[in-house]
Parts: sequence; C-alpha cells; structure tokens
Amino acid sequence: MIDVTILVNGVPRRVPADLSLAAALWRLGIHRFRTDRDGAPRAPVCGMGTCFECRVEVDGRTGVRSCLLPVREGLRVELPA
Ligand code: FES
Repeated sequence: MIDVTILVNGVPRRVPADLSLAAALWRLGIHRFRTDRDGAPRAPVCGMGTCFECRVEVDGRTGVRSCLLPVREGLRVELPA
C-alpha cells in the first residue's frame, strides 16, 4: 500500500493514498472535524457527500467535504483545536 504525507494542523502524518480525507483523519483517531455554533464537536455521518458534517479547511479553502476528497501528497488540513 502506498502512503502519502498530509499536514494536519501543520503536523506531518502518513496515511494510505487510497483513502478519502475523512477516512484518513478517522484512521488517525481524529473525530472532531469542526464545531457547531455552540462549540459542540461534529464528525462525518454519511460518508457520501450529503450531510456536510465532515467539512474542514483544506489548503486554505473552508467548507470542503472531506469525505469526497481523496488524500494527496502535501494536502494541508486545518481542524478545530
Ligand atoms: S460525511 Fe456526510 S458529507 Fe461528508
């Protein structure tokens, strides 16, 4: 299996190249993808682009549905602290 390096909040992480970003983050043990208006953690629900719960910031673009985005070398994702 081929791995790629993505940057999660600036930290390099190796993940399998054949995953979506949502699956890669989940595999890394990350379950807080964004927060709602009240600050509650949100994470992927559907895995197929319909719920919008997996939105993250990728390469400076906000609101990217991570379940629809394949990982690639050098991808930068910013998650809430
Ligand atoms: S997990 Fe539902 S849109 Fe991505």
